[in-house]
Amino acid sequence: MQSVLLLNAKGGSGKTTIATNLASLYASAGFKTAILDYDPQGSSHYWGSLRDSTEHAPVHIIDASHKRTGITRAFQLKTPPDTERVIIDTPAGISRDLLREAVDRADIIVIPVTPSPIDIHASAEFIRELMLTIKMRAASIPIGIIANRVRQQTPIYQPLERFLDSQDIPFLATLSDSDHYISASEKGVGIHEMEPSLVTQERIEWAPLVKWIGEHLPHTSSPGENLLLRAAAN
Ligand SMILES: Nc1ncnc2c1ncn2[C@@H]1O[C@H](COP(=O)(O)OP(=O)(O)O)[C@@H](O)[C@H]1O
Ligand SMILES: [Mg+2]
Repeated sequence: MQSVLLLNAKGGSGKTTIATNLASLYASAGFKTAILDYDPQGSSHYWGSLRDSTEHAPVHIIDASHKRTGITRAFQLKTPPDTERVIIDTPAGISRDLLREAVDRADIIVIPVTPSPIDIHASAEFIRELMLTIKMRAASIPIGIIANRVRQQTPIYQPLERFLDSQDIPFLATLSDSDHYISASEKGVGIHEMEPSLVTQERIEWAPLVKWIGEHLPHTSSPGENLLLRAAAN
């Protein structure tokens, strides 16, 4: 089982959008996929409730936000047997405890950042704190950044880029601001499940992200992974 954790201390940066698009991409490529939703607002959970399971590959959604009494935390967060991909969606302002728990479950961390000076500034601070949390673990976890909701190419990310370079954290992809993400979320699908000619640009922008994740998740050189990469690149 391989887990991708979406993080950013700020709301609205695209965690849920990328979590649901990634989950539906893996599911449609044939991976048994689950989303672990740590957000009490339950946006990924809501997305899952809109998903038509007769038409689209199933994505199992687990509500991780509220600690439930009467069962152990491990049981509450248990994924179905044979789950291959877990996408972890998290809330804005995640608490230290939940951050630690989510990091403990992650093989890889992806941080979406919008092109606003406030988000960029807050992200650098957040990444510093995140790296301290990760250091407390024995193994290191690859971290990558996504520029999300980009309307035009401006050098706005430069201050963050310098910091990321010094920490060896890559920019993985630039995703445009596109209404197709909104219409996909209204139907409980991802952009890779929409008519390909409608979302040509979005698919091109996703390809390097999917490739990086495939290369950095442990033990993923399976035929299924190649299929997925081809699906993403088409
Ligand atoms: N690349 C994008 N293009 C257009 N709208 C986007 C994009 N990414 C996110 N959104 C929209 O921005 C809002 C916030 O995104 P969301 O994924 O919910 O952020 P978060 O989970 O980090 O709070 C949502 O309405 C979502 O549909
Ligand atoms: Mg969200």
